[in-house]
Amino acid sequence: MGHEQANDNRERSLDPDDWEALRDLGHRAFDDMIEYLQTIREQPAWQPLPAAARELFDEGVPRQSTPRDEVYAQIHEHILPYPTGNVHPRFWSWVGGTGTATQLIADLVASAMNSAGLGFDEVSSSYVELQLLNWLKTLLGYPTDASGLLVSGGSMANLVGLAVARTSIAPYDLRKTGVDTSNHPRLMYYASTVTHSSVRKAIELLGLGSDSLHLVPVMDDFTINVDALQDAIGADRAAGKLPACIIANAGTVNTAAIDPLHQLADVAAEERLWLHADAAFGGFAKLSPEYAHFVDGLERADSLAFDLHKWLYVQYDCGCVLIRSAELHKDTFSVTPEYLRAFDRGLASGPLNFSEYGVQLSRSFKALRAWTALKTEGSDRYGEQIGQNIQLAAYLTRLVDDSPRLELMAPTAMNIVNFRFIDDAVPAKELEDLNAEILMLLHERGIAAPSSTVLNGEFSIRVAICNHRSRRSDFAALVAGVIEIGTELVTRGIDRNKNKH
Ligand SMILES: Cc1ncc(COP(=O)(O)O)c(C=O)c1O
Repeated sequence: MGHEQANDNRERSLDPDDWEALRDLGHRAFDDMIEYLQTIREQPAWQPLPAAARELFDEGVPRQSTPRDEVYAQIHEHILPYPTGNVHPRFWSWVGGTGTATQLIADLVASAMNSAGLGFDEVSSSYVELQLLNWLKTLLGYPTDASGLLVSGGSMANLVGLAVARTSIAPYDLRKTGVDTSNHPRLMYYASTVTHSSVRKAIELLGLGSDSLHLVPVMDDFTINVDALQDAIGADRAAGKLPACIIANAGTVNTAAIDPLHQLADVAAEERLWLHADAAFGGFAKLSPEYAHFVDGLERADSLAFDLHKWLYVQYDCGCVLIRSAELHKDTFSVTPEYLRAFDRGLASGPLNFSEYGVQLSRSFKALRAWTALKTEGSDRYGEQIGQNIQLAAYLTRLVDDSPRLELMAPTAMNIVNFRFIDDAVPAKELEDLNAEILMLLHERGIAAPSSTVLNGEFSIRVAICNHRSRRSDFAALVAGVIEIGTELVTRGIDRNKNKH
Protein backbone atom coordinates (compact mmCIF):
# COMPACT_ATOMS: atom_id res chain seq x y z
CA MET A 1 0.00 0.00 0.00
CA GLY A 2 2.78 2.34 1.02
CA HIS A 3 4.57 1.49 -2.24
CA GLU A 4 1.45 2.29 -4.34
CA GLN A 5 1.06 5.58 -2.54
CA ALA A 6 4.60 6.57 -3.44
CA ASN A 7 3.97 5.67 -7.08
CA ASP A 8 0.79 7.73 -7.17
CA ASN A 9 2.71 10.72 -5.97
CA ARG A 10 5.21 10.38 -8.81
CA GLU A 11 2.52 10.07 -11.48
CA ARG A 12 1.60 13.42 -12.91
CA SER A 13 -0.44 14.84 -15.77
CA LEU A 14 -0.16 18.13 -17.59
CA ASP A 15 -3.34 19.38 -15.98
CA PRO A 16 -2.80 22.48 -13.85
CA ASP A 17 -2.07 22.05 -10.16
CA ASP A 18 -4.30 25.01 -9.54
CA TRP A 19 -7.42 24.94 -11.72
CA GLU A 20 -8.74 28.14 -10.16
CA ALA A 21 -5.64 30.05 -11.27
CA LEU A 22 -6.13 28.78 -14.85
CA ARG A 23 -9.80 29.79 -14.69
CA ASP A 24 -8.80 33.32 -13.64
CA LEU A 25 -6.20 33.60 -16.37
CA GLY A 26 -8.67 32.20 -18.91
CA HIS A 27 -11.25 34.83 -18.00
CA ARG A 28 -8.63 37.55 -18.28
CA ALA A 29 -7.40 36.24 -21.65
CA PHE A 30 -10.94 36.03 -23.00
CA ASP A 31 -11.66 39.59 -21.86
CA ASP A 32 -8.42 40.75 -23.47
CA MET A 33 -9.35 39.12 -26.80
CA ILE A 34 -12.79 40.72 -26.81
CA GLU A 35 -11.16 44.07 -26.08
CA TYR A 36 -8.61 43.42 -28.83
CA LEU A 37 -11.25 42.80 -31.48
CA GLN A 38 -13.55 45.54 -30.20
CA THR A 39 -10.83 48.17 -30.50
CA ILE A 40 -8.94 46.81 -33.52
CA ARG A 41 -9.88 49.87 -35.60
CA GLU A 42 -7.74 52.03 -33.30
CA GLN A 43 -4.65 49.95 -34.11
CA PRO A 44 -2.39 50.46 -37.13
CA ALA A 45 -3.27 48.24 -40.10
CA TRP A 46 0.26 46.84 -39.84
CA GLN A 47 3.29 47.44 -37.65
CA PRO A 48 6.73 45.86 -37.80
CA LEU A 49 7.95 43.53 -35.05
CA PRO A 50 10.10 45.47 -32.58
CA ALA A 51 13.47 44.19 -31.34
CA ALA A 52 12.00 42.88 -28.06
CA ALA A 53 9.65 40.53 -29.93
CA ARG A 54 12.42 39.32 -32.22
CA GLU A 55 14.59 38.60 -29.17
CA LEU A 56 11.84 36.44 -27.72
CA PHE A 57 11.76 34.36 -30.92
CA ASP A 58 15.51 33.83 -30.72
CA GLU A 59 15.25 32.13 -27.33
CA GLY A 60 16.16 28.43 -27.22
CA VAL A 61 14.10 25.44 -26.03
CA PRO A 62 12.41 26.24 -22.71
CA ARG A 63 13.57 23.22 -20.69
CA GLN A 64 12.20 24.49 -17.38
CA SER A 65 8.72 25.69 -16.67
CA THR A 66 7.69 29.33 -16.86
CA PRO A 67 4.70 30.53 -14.84
CA ARG A 68 1.59 30.48 -17.04
CA ASP A 69 0.83 34.15 -16.31
CA GLU A 70 4.29 35.10 -17.50
CA VAL A 71 3.90 33.15 -20.74
CA TYR A 72 0.56 34.84 -21.32
CA ALA A 73 2.15 38.25 -20.63
CA GLN A 74 4.74 37.48 -23.36
CA ILE A 75 1.98 36.51 -25.80
CA HIS A 76 0.08 39.66 -24.95
CA GLU A 77 3.06 41.94 -25.35
CA HIS A 78 5.09 40.38 -28.14
CA ILE A 79 2.75 38.25 -30.25
CA LEU A 80 -0.80 39.61 -30.15
CA PRO A 81 0.02 43.13 -31.47
CA TYR A 82 1.69 41.76 -34.63
CA PRO A 83 -0.91 39.72 -36.56
CA THR A 84 -1.18 39.36 -40.33
CA GLY A 85 -3.75 42.07 -39.86
CA ASN A 86 -6.77 40.58 -41.58
CA VAL A 87 -8.78 41.36 -38.45
CA HIS A 88 -8.22 45.06 -39.19
CA PRO A 89 -10.85 47.04 -41.14
CA ARG A 90 -8.24 48.37 -43.57
CA PHE A 91 -6.62 45.01 -44.41
CA TRP A 92 -7.14 44.00 -48.04
CA SER A 93 -4.02 41.96 -48.89
CA TRP A 94 -4.04 38.73 -50.90
CA VAL A 95 -7.46 37.23 -50.14
CA GLY A 96 -7.48 37.51 -46.37
CA GLY A 97 -10.74 36.82 -44.55
CA THR A 98 -11.55 38.58 -41.30
CA GLY A 99 -12.99 35.97 -38.95
CA THR A 100 -15.70 36.93 -36.44
CA ALA A 101 -15.71 37.48 -32.69
CA THR A 102 -18.40 34.84 -32.09
CA GLN A 103 -16.05 32.13 -33.28
CA LEU A 104 -13.78 32.70 -30.26
CA ILE A 105 -16.36 30.69 -28.34
CA ALA A 106 -16.19 27.83 -30.85
CA ASP A 107 -12.40 27.86 -30.70
CA LEU A 108 -12.46 27.56 -26.96
CA VAL A 109 -14.87 24.64 -27.06
CA ALA A 110 -13.07 22.87 -29.93
CA SER A 111 -9.78 23.23 -28.09
CA ALA A 112 -11.23 21.79 -24.89
CA MET A 113 -12.87 18.87 -26.74
CA ASN A 114 -9.77 18.30 -28.89
CA SER A 115 -11.67 15.92 -31.18
CA ALA A 116 -9.67 14.20 -33.90
CA GLY A 117 -12.15 14.87 -36.72
CA LEU A 118 -12.06 11.30 -37.96
CA GLY A 119 -15.71 10.95 -38.97
CA PHE A 120 -15.75 7.24 -38.24
CA ASP A 121 -15.79 8.09 -34.57
CA GLU A 122 -19.36 8.18 -33.27
CA VAL A 123 -19.03 11.63 -31.72
CA SER A 124 -20.58 15.07 -32.13
CA SER A 125 -17.76 16.48 -34.31
CA SER A 126 -18.53 13.98 -37.08
CA TYR A 127 -22.15 15.11 -37.26
CA VAL A 128 -21.32 18.81 -36.99
CA GLU A 129 -19.00 18.53 -40.01
CA LEU A 130 -21.54 16.52 -42.03
CA GLN A 131 -24.28 19.00 -41.20
CA LEU A 132 -22.04 21.92 -42.15
CA LEU A 133 -21.16 20.20 -45.45
CA ASN A 134 -24.87 19.76 -46.15
CA TRP A 135 -25.54 23.44 -45.40
CA LEU A 136 -22.70 24.43 -47.75
CA LYS A 137 -24.08 22.23 -50.55
CA THR A 138 -27.50 23.85 -50.12
CA LEU A 139 -26.08 27.39 -50.00
CA LEU A 140 -23.99 26.82 -53.13
CA GLY A 141 -26.81 25.05 -54.99
CA TYR A 142 -24.76 21.88 -55.21
CA PRO A 143 -26.39 18.41 -55.29
CA THR A 144 -27.25 17.20 -51.81
CA ASP A 145 -25.88 13.71 -52.46
CA ALA A 146 -22.43 15.09 -53.31
CA SER A 147 -19.57 14.24 -50.97
CA GLY A 148 -17.45 16.82 -49.23
CA LEU A 149 -14.60 17.41 -46.87
CA LEU A 150 -13.26 20.27 -44.82
CA VAL A 151 -9.59 20.86 -45.57
CA SER A 152 -6.93 23.39 -44.64
CA GLY A 153 -7.75 25.79 -47.48
CA GLY A 154 -8.15 26.39 -51.18
CA SER A 155 -4.79 24.86 -52.05
CA MET A 156 -5.70 21.54 -50.43
CA ALA A 157 -9.23 21.70 -51.84
CA ASN A 158 -7.79 22.13 -55.34
CA LEU A 159 -5.41 19.22 -54.74
CA VAL A 160 -8.27 16.92 -53.69
CA GLY A 161 -10.54 17.95 -56.59
CA LEU A 162 -7.81 17.58 -59.19
CA ALA A 163 -6.80 14.21 -57.72
CA VAL A 164 -10.35 12.89 -58.16
CA ALA A 165 -10.32 14.20 -61.75
CA ARG A 166 -7.06 12.32 -62.35
CA THR A 167 -8.19 8.90 -61.12
CA SER A 168 -11.65 9.28 -62.65
CA ILE A 169 -10.55 10.25 -66.16
CA ALA A 170 -7.41 8.09 -66.55
CA PRO A 171 -8.32 5.05 -68.69
CA TYR A 172 -6.12 2.81 -66.52
CA ASP A 173 -5.72 1.95 -62.84
CA LEU A 174 -3.71 5.03 -61.99
CA ARG A 175 -3.78 4.34 -58.26
CA LYS A 176 -1.92 1.10 -58.96
CA THR A 177 0.54 2.02 -61.68
CA GLY A 178 0.98 5.72 -60.95
CA VAL A 179 0.91 8.23 -63.79
CA ASP A 180 2.04 6.33 -66.87
CA THR A 181 2.89 8.41 -69.92
CA SER A 182 4.92 5.57 -71.54
CA ASN A 183 1.93 3.34 -72.24
CA HIS A 184 -0.90 5.85 -72.07
CA PRO A 185 -1.60 9.34 -73.39
CA ARG A 186 -0.66 12.26 -71.16
CA LEU A 187 -3.64 13.58 -69.17
CA MET A 188 -4.16 17.28 -69.90
CA TYR A 189 -5.62 19.91 -67.56
CA TYR A 190 -6.77 23.33 -68.87
CA ALA A 191 -6.83 26.58 -66.94
CA SER A 192 -6.46 30.24 -67.77
CA THR A 193 -3.08 31.96 -67.45
CA VAL A 194 -4.32 33.86 -64.37
CA THR A 195 -5.26 30.74 -62.40
CA HIS A 196 -3.96 30.50 -58.82
CA SER A 197 -0.52 28.92 -58.36
CA SER A 198 -1.97 26.20 -56.10
CA VAL A 199 -3.43 24.55 -59.23
CA ARG A 200 -0.01 24.17 -60.80
CA LYS A 201 1.36 22.95 -57.48
CA ALA A 202 -1.40 20.32 -57.26
CA ILE A 203 -0.75 19.11 -60.80
CA GLU A 204 2.95 18.77 -60.07
CA LEU A 205 2.30 17.01 -56.75
CA LEU A 206 -0.10 14.59 -58.44
CA GLY A 207 2.82 13.45 -60.56
CA LEU A 208 1.22 14.71 -63.76
CA GLY A 209 4.00 17.23 -64.32
CA SER A 210 3.51 20.85 -65.31
CA ASP A 211 3.57 19.71 -68.97
CA SER A 212 0.07 18.45 -68.23
CA LEU A 213 -1.14 21.97 -67.45
CA HIS A 214 -2.19 23.79 -70.61
CA LEU A 215 -2.52 27.48 -69.78
CA VAL A 216 -5.11 29.19 -71.93
CA PRO A 217 -4.98 32.93 -72.73
CA VAL A 218 -7.51 35.34 -71.23
CA MET A 219 -9.76 38.03 -72.66
CA ASP A 220 -9.38 41.73 -71.78
CA ASP A 221 -11.45 41.16 -68.63
CA PHE A 222 -9.12 38.33 -67.48
CA THR A 223 -11.69 35.58 -68.10
CA ILE A 224 -10.62 32.51 -70.03
CA ASN A 225 -10.80 32.71 -73.83
CA VAL A 226 -13.21 29.85 -74.55
CA ASP A 227 -12.33 29.68 -78.27
CA ALA A 228 -8.66 29.33 -77.37
CA LEU A 229 -9.60 26.64 -74.85
CA GLN A 230 -11.47 24.64 -77.48
CA ASP A 231 -8.56 25.01 -79.91
CA ALA A 232 -6.15 23.81 -77.21
CA ILE A 233 -8.28 20.73 -76.47
CA GLY A 234 -8.49 19.92 -80.18
CA ALA A 235 -4.77 20.39 -80.74
CA ASP A 236 -3.88 18.21 -77.75
CA ARG A 237 -6.20 15.43 -78.89
CA ALA A 238 -4.69 15.59 -82.38
CA ALA A 239 -1.23 15.32 -80.77
CA GLY A 240 -2.25 12.07 -79.01
CA LYS A 241 -2.78 13.54 -75.56
CA LEU A 242 -5.88 12.93 -73.42
CA PRO A 243 -7.75 16.10 -72.41
CA ALA A 244 -8.93 15.37 -68.86
CA CYS A 245 -10.00 18.41 -66.90
CA ILE A 246 -10.98 22.06 -67.21
CA ILE A 247 -10.34 24.29 -64.22
CA ALA A 248 -12.80 27.18 -64.04
CA ASN A 249 -12.10 30.26 -61.95
CA ALA A 250 -15.00 31.69 -59.98
CA GLY A 251 -12.98 34.71 -58.92
CA THR A 252 -9.36 34.88 -60.00
CA VAL A 253 -6.85 35.79 -57.35
CA ASN A 254 -5.66 38.93 -59.22
CA THR A 255 -8.91 40.60 -60.21
CA ALA A 256 -11.82 38.33 -59.13
CA ALA A 257 -12.61 37.68 -62.80
CA ILE A 258 -15.24 34.95 -63.18
CA ASP A 259 -14.83 32.56 -66.09
CA PRO A 260 -17.99 31.90 -68.15
CA LEU A 261 -19.05 28.96 -66.02
CA HIS A 262 -21.96 27.70 -68.13
CA GLN A 263 -19.84 27.81 -71.28
CA LEU A 264 -17.05 25.88 -69.58
CA ALA A 265 -19.55 23.33 -68.28
CA ASP A 266 -20.89 22.94 -71.84
CA VAL A 267 -17.38 22.45 -73.26
CA ALA A 268 -16.56 19.92 -70.52
CA ALA A 269 -19.78 18.00 -71.26
CA GLU A 270 -19.20 17.99 -75.04
CA GLU A 271 -15.59 16.93 -74.69
CA ARG A 272 -16.28 14.53 -71.80
CA LEU A 273 -13.86 16.32 -69.48
CA TRP A 274 -13.97 16.80 -65.72
CA LEU A 275 -14.91 20.34 -64.64
CA HIS A 276 -13.19 21.57 -61.49
CA ALA A 277 -14.08 25.03 -60.17
CA ASP A 278 -11.68 27.05 -58.06
CA ALA A 279 -14.22 29.19 -56.24
CA ALA A 280 -11.82 29.94 -53.39
CA PHE A 281 -13.67 33.10 -52.44
CA GLY A 282 -16.07 33.85 -55.31
CA GLY A 283 -18.36 30.90 -54.61
CA PHE A 284 -19.89 32.72 -51.67
CA ALA A 285 -21.35 35.40 -53.95
CA LYS A 286 -24.11 32.76 -54.18
CA LEU A 287 -25.23 33.78 -50.70
CA SER A 288 -26.05 37.30 -51.82
CA PRO A 289 -29.43 37.41 -53.63
CA GLU A 290 -28.23 40.53 -55.47
CA TYR A 291 -24.99 39.03 -56.78
CA ALA A 292 -25.59 35.26 -56.85
CA HIS A 293 -25.92 35.46 -60.65
CA PHE A 294 -22.21 36.35 -60.89
CA VAL A 295 -21.41 32.67 -60.27
CA ASP A 296 -24.31 31.04 -62.07
CA GLY A 297 -23.26 27.65 -63.36
CA LEU A 298 -20.86 26.96 -60.50
CA GLU A 299 -23.18 24.15 -59.40
CA ARG A 300 -22.40 22.29 -62.64
CA ALA A 301 -18.77 21.62 -61.63
CA ASP A 302 -17.76 18.01 -60.96
CA SER A 303 -15.59 19.26 -58.12
CA LEU A 304 -15.77 22.54 -56.28
CA ALA A 305 -13.02 24.07 -54.13
CA PHE A 306 -13.63 27.02 -51.81
CA ASP A 307 -12.45 28.63 -48.63
CA LEU A 308 -14.56 29.37 -45.61
CA HIS A 309 -11.68 31.37 -44.17
CA LYS A 310 -11.95 33.86 -47.01
CA TRP A 311 -15.44 35.08 -47.84
CA LEU A 312 -17.38 33.23 -45.15
CA TYR A 313 -15.30 35.14 -42.58
CA VAL A 314 -14.39 31.91 -40.77
CA GLN A 315 -11.23 31.92 -38.68
CA TYR A 316 -8.16 30.28 -40.29
CA ASP A 317 -7.85 27.68 -41.43
CA CYS A 318 -10.88 26.24 -43.15
CA GLY A 319 -11.34 25.26 -46.78
CA CYS A 320 -13.77 22.83 -48.36
CA VAL A 321 -14.05 20.57 -51.37
CA LEU A 322 -17.29 19.16 -52.73
CA ILE A 323 -17.35 16.32 -55.27
CA ARG A 324 -20.46 15.60 -57.31
CA SER A 325 -19.83 11.82 -57.32
CA ALA A 326 -19.23 10.52 -53.81
CA GLU A 327 -18.25 7.20 -55.35
CA LEU A 328 -15.45 8.63 -57.52
CA HIS A 329 -14.32 10.70 -54.55
CA LYS A 330 -13.97 7.62 -52.36
CA ASP A 331 -12.39 5.59 -55.17
CA THR A 332 -9.56 8.11 -55.26
CA PHE A 333 -8.57 8.14 -51.60
CA SER A 334 -9.95 5.12 -49.78
CA VAL A 335 -7.42 3.01 -47.87
CA THR A 336 -8.78 1.21 -44.80
CA PRO A 337 -6.19 -0.58 -42.70
CA GLU A 338 -7.30 -2.98 -39.97
CA TYR A 339 -6.37 -0.57 -37.19
CA LEU A 340 -8.98 1.88 -38.51
CA ARG A 341 -11.76 -0.69 -38.63
CA ALA A 342 -15.28 0.64 -38.22
CA PHE A 343 -17.82 -1.19 -36.04
CA ASP A 344 -21.60 -1.22 -35.75
CA ARG A 345 -21.49 -0.02 -32.17
CA GLY A 346 -19.16 1.79 -29.83
CA LEU A 347 -16.71 4.63 -30.49
CA ALA A 348 -15.72 3.53 -34.00
CA SER A 349 -19.28 3.36 -35.36
CA GLY A 350 -19.42 6.92 -36.71
CA PRO A 351 -21.18 8.00 -39.90
CA LEU A 352 -18.29 8.11 -42.39
CA ASN A 353 -14.51 7.83 -42.50
CA PHE A 354 -13.30 11.25 -43.69
CA SER A 355 -9.83 9.86 -44.42
CA GLU A 356 -11.38 7.93 -47.34
CA TYR A 357 -12.11 11.29 -48.98
CA GLY A 358 -8.85 13.15 -48.61
CA VAL A 359 -5.22 13.19 -47.54
CA GLN A 360 -5.52 13.72 -43.80
CA LEU A 361 -6.50 11.22 -41.14
CA SER A 362 -6.54 13.25 -37.92
CA ARG A 363 -8.02 16.71 -38.34
CA SER A 364 -8.93 19.57 -36.04
CA PHE A 365 -12.58 20.24 -35.22
CA LYS A 366 -12.57 23.26 -37.51
CA ALA A 367 -16.20 22.67 -38.50
CA LEU A 368 -17.39 24.05 -35.17
CA ARG A 369 -16.33 27.62 -36.00
CA ALA A 370 -18.32 27.82 -39.24
CA TRP A 371 -21.23 25.91 -37.71
CA THR A 372 -21.39 28.32 -34.76
CA ALA A 373 -21.02 31.37 -36.98
CA LEU A 374 -23.69 30.32 -39.49
CA LYS A 375 -26.14 29.42 -36.74
CA THR A 376 -25.53 32.63 -34.84
CA GLU A 377 -25.80 35.01 -37.78
CA GLY A 378 -27.91 33.03 -40.25
CA SER A 379 -26.83 32.63 -43.87
CA ASP A 380 -28.99 35.59 -45.01
CA ARG A 381 -26.89 37.88 -42.85
CA TYR A 382 -23.76 36.50 -44.50
CA GLY A 383 -25.28 37.14 -47.91
CA GLU A 384 -25.86 40.80 -46.95
CA GLN A 385 -22.30 41.18 -45.71
CA ILE A 386 -20.88 39.68 -48.91
CA GLY A 387 -23.11 41.98 -50.95
CA GLN A 388 -21.79 44.93 -48.93
CA ASN A 389 -18.20 43.94 -49.80
CA ILE A 390 -19.10 43.95 -53.51
CA GLN A 391 -20.72 47.37 -53.15
CA LEU A 392 -17.64 48.68 -51.35
CA ALA A 393 -15.47 47.47 -54.25
CA ALA A 394 -17.76 49.43 -56.60
CA TYR A 395 -17.43 52.45 -54.31
CA LEU A 396 -13.63 52.28 -54.33
CA THR A 397 -13.72 51.89 -58.11
CA ARG A 398 -15.74 55.13 -58.33
CA LEU A 399 -13.25 56.94 -56.09
CA VAL A 400 -10.42 55.79 -58.36
CA ASP A 401 -12.32 56.74 -61.51
CA ASP A 402 -13.09 60.17 -60.10
CA SER A 403 -9.47 60.99 -59.28
CA PRO A 404 -7.13 62.28 -62.01
CA ARG A 405 -4.21 61.02 -59.85
CA LEU A 406 -5.36 57.40 -59.94
CA GLU A 407 -5.76 54.87 -62.71
CA LEU A 408 -7.88 51.71 -62.64
CA MET A 409 -5.77 48.72 -63.76
CA ALA A 410 -8.53 46.17 -64.40
CA PRO A 411 -12.31 46.08 -64.59
CA THR A 412 -13.73 45.48 -61.11
CA ALA A 413 -15.49 42.15 -61.53
CA MET A 414 -16.61 41.58 -57.95
CA ASN A 415 -14.69 42.35 -54.74
CA ILE A 416 -11.14 43.12 -55.93
CA VAL A 417 -10.00 46.55 -57.13
CA ASN A 418 -6.69 47.20 -58.91
CA PHE A 419 -5.31 50.70 -59.37
CA ARG A 420 -2.15 52.80 -59.32
CA PHE A 421 -1.05 56.36 -58.70
CA ILE A 422 -0.08 58.34 -61.80
CA ASP A 423 1.55 61.70 -62.38
CA ASP A 424 2.32 63.52 -65.63
CA ALA A 425 5.87 64.13 -64.42
CA VAL A 426 6.56 60.41 -63.88
CA PRO A 427 7.47 58.35 -66.98
CA ALA A 428 5.57 55.06 -67.42
CA LYS A 429 8.64 52.93 -66.69
CA GLU A 430 8.99 54.52 -63.24
CA LEU A 431 5.41 53.92 -62.17
CA GLU A 432 6.23 50.49 -60.73
CA ASP A 433 8.89 51.84 -58.36
CA LEU A 434 6.66 54.73 -57.39
CA ASN A 435 3.63 52.58 -56.66
CA ALA A 436 5.66 49.90 -54.86
CA GLU A 437 7.03 52.62 -52.59
CA ILE A 438 3.53 53.99 -52.01
CA LEU A 439 2.46 50.48 -50.99
CA MET A 440 5.38 50.08 -48.55
CA LEU A 441 4.62 53.45 -46.96
CA LEU A 442 0.91 52.66 -46.68
CA HIS A 443 1.95 49.60 -44.63
CA GLU A 444 4.74 51.26 -42.67
CA ARG A 445 2.60 54.21 -41.69
CA GLY A 446 -0.14 51.78 -40.63
CA ILE A 447 -2.67 53.46 -42.94
CA ALA A 448 -3.91 50.39 -44.82
CA ALA A 449 -2.73 46.99 -45.98
CA PRO A 450 -3.50 46.30 -49.64
CA SER A 451 -1.17 43.95 -51.58
CA SER A 452 0.06 44.12 -55.16
CA THR A 453 0.10 42.23 -58.41
CA VAL A 454 1.18 42.65 -62.02
CA LEU A 455 -1.49 42.99 -64.73
CA ASN A 456 -0.47 42.96 -68.39
CA GLY A 457 3.09 43.64 -67.24
CA GLU A 458 2.11 46.65 -65.09
CA PHE A 459 2.46 46.87 -61.31
CA SER A 460 -0.85 47.38 -59.54
CA ILE A 461 -1.96 48.13 -55.99
CA ARG A 462 -4.50 45.42 -55.29
CA VAL A 463 -7.39 45.68 -52.82
CA ALA A 464 -9.22 42.41 -52.08
CA ILE A 465 -12.30 42.94 -49.94
CA CYS A 466 -13.35 39.93 -47.83
CA ASN A 467 -13.48 42.14 -44.76
CA HIS A 468 -16.76 42.61 -42.89
CA ARG A 469 -15.25 45.45 -40.83
CA SER A 470 -14.41 47.73 -43.78
CA ARG A 471 -16.55 50.80 -44.34
CA ARG A 472 -16.69 53.46 -47.04
CA SER A 473 -14.59 55.78 -44.87
CA ASP A 474 -11.80 53.16 -44.88
CA PHE A 475 -11.59 53.28 -48.67
CA ALA A 476 -11.71 57.06 -48.64
CA ALA A 477 -8.76 56.95 -46.20
CA LEU A 478 -6.91 54.56 -48.53
CA VAL A 479 -7.39 56.81 -51.55
CA ALA A 480 -6.38 59.90 -49.57
CA GLY A 481 -3.29 58.04 -48.29
CA VAL A 482 -2.22 56.91 -51.77
CA ILE A 483 -2.61 60.42 -53.21
CA GLU A 484 -0.83 62.06 -50.30
CA ILE A 485 2.10 59.63 -50.32
CA GLY A 486 2.28 59.64 -54.13
CA THR A 487 2.38 63.43 -54.25
CA GLU A 488 4.99 63.52 -51.48
CA LEU A 489 7.19 61.01 -53.35
CA VAL A 490 6.88 62.83 -56.67
CA THR A 491 7.91 66.04 -54.93
CA ARG A 492 10.88 64.63 -53.03
CA GLY A 493 11.80 61.72 -55.33
CA ILE A 494 12.14 58.07 -54.33
CA ASP A 495 15.07 55.78 -53.83
CA ARG A 496 14.61 53.73 -57.00
CA ASN A 497 16.64 50.76 -55.80
CA LYS A 498 14.77 50.31 -52.56
CA ASN A 499 12.13 47.83 -53.69
CA LYS A 500 14.21 45.89 -56.21
CA HIS A 501 14.27 42.10 -55.67
C1 LIG B 1 -8.45 31.78 -56.46
C2 LIG B 1 -7.66 31.15 -55.34
N1 LIG B 1 -7.45 29.82 -55.35
C3 LIG B 1 -6.76 29.21 -54.37
C4 LIG B 1 -6.23 29.93 -53.32
C5 LIG B 1 -5.44 29.21 -52.26
O1 LIG B 1 -6.18 29.20 -51.06
P1 LIG B 1 -5.49 28.92 -49.64
O2 LIG B 1 -4.59 30.09 -49.37
O3 LIG B 1 -6.63 28.86 -48.71
O4 LIG B 1 -4.75 27.64 -49.74
C6 LIG B 1 -6.42 31.31 -53.28
C7 LIG B 1 -5.84 32.11 -52.19
O5 LIG B 1 -5.89 33.31 -52.19
C8 LIG B 1 -7.17 31.94 -54.31
O6 LIG B 1 -7.39 33.26 -54.30
